[in-house]
Amino acid sequence: MIFQKGKKDNYDSVKSPTSLFCEYVSNPLGVDVIRPRFSWELEHSERGQLQSAYQVLVASSQKNLDAENGDKWDSGKVASEESINVIYAGSALKSEKTYYWKIRIWEKDEKMSPWSKVATFEMGLLNPDDWRGRWIEGKSHGESTSSDPVHGTTKMPYGYLLRKEFSIEKDIAQARVYVSGLGYYEMRINGNKIGDFVLDPGWTDYKKRVLYSTYDVSKYVKKGKNVVGIILGNGRHIEAYGYGPPKTILQLNIEFTDGVSKNIVTDESWKSASGPILSNDIYNGETYDARLERPGWDTPLYDDSDWDGAKIADEPGGKLVSQASFPPIKVTKIIQPIEITSPNPDVYVYDFGQNFTGWVRLCLSGPRDTTVKLRYAELLHEDGMINVVPNRGAKATDTYILKGEEEEVYEPRFTYHGFRYVEVTGFPGTPTLENIEGRVVHSAVEPTGGFICSNSLINSIHKNVLWGQLSNLMSVPTDCPQRNERMGWMGDAQLVTEEAIYNFQMAGFYTKWLEDIGDSQAEDGSVPDVVPPYWSHYPADPVWGTACVVIPWYLYQYYGDKRVLEKCYSGIKRWVEFLAGKATDYILSYSKYGDWCPPAHIKPVDTPGELTSAWYYYHDTLILSKIAHILGKSAEAKRYSQLSSKIKEAFNKKFLKDDHYATGSQTSNVLPLFLDMVPEDKKEAVLKNLIDDIVVTHGAHLNTGIVGTRYILDVLTKYGQADLAYKLATQTTYPGWGYMLREGATTLWERWEYLADGGMNSHNHIMFGSIDAWFYKVLAGINIDPAGPGFGRIIIKPYVVGNLNYVSASIRTMRGMISSSWKKSDHSLALNISLPVNTQAKVSVPKMKLGNVTIKESGKAVWENSSYIEGIAGITGASEDEEYVTFEVGSGLYSFELLKGKS
Ligand code: BGC
Repeated sequence: MIFQKGKKDNYDSVKSPTSLFCEYVSNPLGVDVIRPRFSWELEHSERGQLQSAYQVLVASSQKNLDAENGDKWDSGKVASEESINVIYAGSALKSEKTYYWKIRIWEKDEKMSPWSKVATFEMGLLNPDDWRGRWIEGKSHGESTSSDPVHGTTKMPYGYLLRKEFSIEKDIAQARVYVSGLGYYEMRINGNKIGDFVLDPGWTDYKKRVLYSTYDVSKYVKKGKNVVGIILGNGRHIEAYGYGPPKTILQLNIEFTDGVSKNIVTDESWKSASGPILSNDIYNGETYDARLERPGWDTPLYDDSDWDGAKIADEPGGKLVSQASFPPIKVTKIIQPIEITSPNPDVYVYDFGQNFTGWVRLCLSGPRDTTVKLRYAELLHEDGMINVVPNRGAKATDTYILKGEEEEVYEPRFTYHGFRYVEVTGFPGTPTLENIEGRVVHSAVEPTGGFICSNSLINSIHKNVLWGQLSNLMSVPTDCPQRNERMGWMGDAQLVTEEAIYNFQMAGFYTKWLEDIGDSQAEDGSVPDVVPPYWSHYPADPVWGTACVVIPWYLYQYYGDKRVLEKCYSGIKRWVEFLAGKATDYILSYSKYGDWCPPAHIKPVDTPGELTSAWYYYHDTLILSKIAHILGKSAEAKRYSQLSSKIKEAFNKKFLKDDHYATGSQTSNVLPLFLDMVPEDKKEAVLKNLIDDIVVTHGAHLNTGIVGTRYILDVLTKYGQADLAYKLATQTTYPGWGYMLREGATTLWERWEYLADGGMNSHNHIMFGSIDAWFYKVLAGINIDPAGPGFGRIIIKPYVVGNLNYVSASIRTMRGMISSSWKKSDHSLALNISLPVNTQAKVSVPKMKLGNVTIKESGKAVWENSSYIEGIAGITGASEDEEYVTFEVGSGLYSFELLKGKS
């Protein structure tokens, strides 16, 4: 150890690190990464602070850690700026063990911080042998059917119950459960539901990987008799996809205060019986017959002598993998209906005023045998009845049969719906607004972004994007939540990855999905359109397949996650090689969907599929070469960089005409402009062609499908047309986001048109949601700087456009909160910035065409007469161009003020 213990005189202004994360989670349980990574945040009252060194201690007990004995790992003082994703390098970590860690840092001037508070991480079951139980199944007492557009009709067994009684004689120190149940399970101990996860575990290809959850159940297991119960449902573990019937595996580890431990595991000694959940299906809903409940079945007082024995089930085949870093699905919010109507006698329709994902909780009383039906829909017909046509084959109906008690409360367990309206029939009496509440359900990703500005239309688009994004995070990124699809369509996901990352902590979510993508990659290197490949669509359209390239790339850029690049590298390479094998003369032409869903169409009409495919071939090869470079694979970096140059050349040769690409459609021009593929002498002409098409041909409207839409605002901004981008973003006539709002949208639609029939017209698709990233990047100006991945380096460059008077945004990054807020007045602009410790930024203050400007920071001039004035803490330099004065800035809070002329 190089440092001296307790050098307190150094502690003055240096605060101890906070927000300790292990594998992106605070104090995770069930970690199964052999070398977990640590991250922390730093705080300081002074500006311009960087970490110069750190020391991590990891101990096998709190006592050791308190004694500063890192018996598992003592990193020593490591001279490094790294404060995110620092890799554990101690001795081997053991299954089920809890480890304690803390961190201290040294500042740039060698001052040392106090130790952080202690954080923990607990390992999961690292080896297959650690699982002492077997997969078991019980007997289902009936079945229903379900259907989807690809597999047709399939059988769906009824839900059922499994239970196991056991006795504990000694005092319990702690208890953990490791559990999975396919497709879905609910676990109960002594009458309590364990944990707040729902629709668990996350979807995977169960033949490759099965996720398990870890719960701390110390307070549920008691001395004396105990019961652990499992309710099983179908989820995605169904015959049509090559799985099914339901099965479960569980291991309850109980440690006693005397150091001895005991395992309760799934085996043939478990009992099984039918329960109240009959049909249960993601698409069709759930039928719950409360008369069939078995009161007390999950408590020790219950007599299970008439139950069947459980059977050992076939193993699903996939490796058991922990969900420790993967955000589980939860009920994240409860919302109340805003209106109830009765369009027909005995038909009641609730309106929640918001399209969302989940279900309702019904609270009622009535005679036994009464059957209440809840049907879910996104839309209403003119007559006020619900319009279920857009649900297509999904019946989206929950049925509850009353047992006849004083108060009955029901909510489904093994289904979910995408809806704004709920129709209630069969209700005993007249329902009121109080009988139902909405349960908002999705992968519980941590919100990290905030955005507000002076234009309420933009704020509403932002709000719709947030609802749409969350509705489509259901353990995989889905296309929609209401009809019989809800698949992990890769195109939809890749187009909004940046948006999702600005708004939510997505690292754990995408890391898991990248594993799913890896699992789905075929021998020939192709990936499918849909992951997990419940629908086996190989090979992916290049616009869809690019997800396997783009998502790791963003995880690296936004979270500094290099490990994900290492893990995905060979898969990305195989995908690019697959594309190379399909290309002729460097042009990749196969296309299935291309610039999907442009105005008035589903399939692209103006933009050739060949162009989008050829462009993504270039795009993926280029990114691959950059990743190879980052990973130090210089020969491959060179090879793919050369290949990308050839693709670019071929692309221009084939598609570039005098002043436009291909058909001159907006997307055709936008794509090459986005990646700087246009030869210098043609740039202006191509840009003009694009602008003319937007302004003259389409009256200031976009004419793009999902691909062009993803890039058009960025391209216009990049080429000096931010005001036009703003015009498109705020356009209220068709087609545009504002038009959707005008037509009453509360989420984003699949199509630019308002459609209410049974075609492709989901009212809750996220694929046009990329606009929201533009709000953060351009209006608020918060950007990553490739020079410092994971926001080590930051670019703040707001655009003061259109009628905007103020914008305020923040994002919680791995290093802490970044915020940027500006407010415009007649001849001045105030820009407030906050940058976390251990970051550096280029902050560009817009000159707003004021000519000679003065810029003050916290009241002191820092720029005057085109010159930088030294002496302001945290600011180390400045330069100007036509539009901006750009400052080199260290961490801290800054208040810039732009004024016309001299101060
Ligand atoms: C989905 C889309 C998806 C598309 C592929 C649709 O049915 O809803 O969002 O990307 O198919 O063509």
